[in-house]
Amino acid sequence: MEQKFVEIVYELFGIKDLNLFMDISLKKLRDILHADAGSIFLYNDADNTLIFKYTQNDSIDLPFKEFAMPLDEKSIAGYVGVNKKILNIKDAYEISDSEPYRFNRDFDRFSGYRTRSMITIPLLNRKNDLIGVVQLINKKTEPYYFTKQDEIICHSLSGIIGVSLENSLLYSEIENMWEGFIKASIQAIEARDPITRGHTERVTNLTLKIASEMSKHKDIFPDFTLTKDQYTMLKYACLLHDFGKIGVKEYILQKAKKVSEDKLEKIKYKILYAHKAGFIGEDPQNLFEKIKKANEPTVLEEDISNMLNNLLHLNIEESAGQKIPILDNDEYNALIVKRGSLTEEERKEMEKHVLYTYVYLSAIPWTKELKDVPKIACMHHEKLDGSGYPFGLKGDEIHPYGRIMAIADIYDALTAKDRPYKKALPVETALSIIKKEGEENKLDINIINFFIDKRIYE
Ligand SMILES: [Fe+2]
Ligand SMILES: [Fe+2]
Repeated sequence: MEQKFVEIVYELFGIKDLNLFMDISLKKLRDILHADAGSIFLYNDADNTLIFKYTQNDSIDLPFKEFAMPLDEKSIAGYVGVNKKILNIKDAYEISDSEPYRFNRDFDRFSGYRTRSMITIPLLNRKNDLIGVVQLINKKTEPYYFTKQDEIICHSLSGIIGVSLENSLLYSEIENMWEGFIKASIQAIEARDPITRGHTERVTNLTLKIASEMSKHKDIFPDFTLTKDQYTMLKYACLLHDFGKIGVKEYILQKAKKVSEDKLEKIKYKILYAHKAGFIGEDPQNLFEKIKKANEPTVLEEDISNMLNNLLHLNIEESAGQKIPILDNDEYNALIVKRGSLTEEERKEMEKHVLYTYVYLSAIPWTKELKDVPKIACMHHEKLDGSGYPFGLKGDEIHPYGRIMAIADIYDALTAKDRPYKKALPVETALSIIKKEGEENKLDINIINFFIDKRIYE
């Protein structure tokens, strides 16, 4: 028996996940005490209730439903929680009327189960505060009720379970708090960059979906793993992948067109004047339409690019002999951008967001399991051929998680429906753009083929 105790201590103390903790501790207890069923209630001190959190039953299989009940002496679990003492009942249907608690037969009525013997144990922390209550039901071996010896065993184990449970609860509380902080940061980032609202969450969901599917297909990805810890690490890396945008100037984040409406208007008047004064023969309205087209962040067409070159060298000569270019250097440099709305300089500034992501996240004292978050988070713009940023990593230097994120990030950018200046591409077009990047050895072609074949994007 001592050996079993030691085993339990070792096993329970390392578990941070609350559900896993409840699952294992209840199984162990039931195993030692030969109980057919069991439940765990957690104490909620905010409203002084017991929450029915977990249940196991070897005889019947019923859907689980969480519920809360007041911590008072009217119920068996409540009575044990209030008095912090083990309660051993031979038959739940024969509780004396003199007791303050009653057995609620609803479950038995609904399920056809017959609850008979029952031992209910308070779970306390080191300070003797109530953490929860465990209930073991129906002893499966003779004498078919829980004995004094069982009570002693429960008493010794309840301390171990109570303290470990508190650790596990504390851990999940910290985890919840941390996740809340991350969500708040995302809100702050996306408030500065409203055109990409929802991007982070979508990239996170898609990346985790691809990774989960990959881990199930060992035939295609024999070396790919996704343990529970790795899943959490990847989730944080995704949620924080664009965290560095906090360091990028707002006007760059929000820049939808190449030049502002004001500047566009100014160019319009210069064209009208140049036409009137005979410097240009082309219909000014026509010319201005082309400028407006050049101002869009879509791919710049060849003939429009040529037209911009001509305009750069075309000056309006004023009567005083002063020369005014129809397009000045700044306007030209902005409009001539081949794709997107940012000038070379602005693009470089924008690209720094990943470097900032790395720097900011590296300042966090991550746990051993999460230490790779900064490294993975800043891989989402790297390309297998080394043409990506911020570090220009190549091939195997880019972790599979980083490769998945890169695909999810591009897929979302192409198909996002919430960018007012940019139409969402149809899924088929987005997939063919991504596939092309795979064939050019920029993105991982195996993951892309898997993503498309298994229709993970749906
Ligand atoms: Fe990014
Ligand atoms: Fe992103």
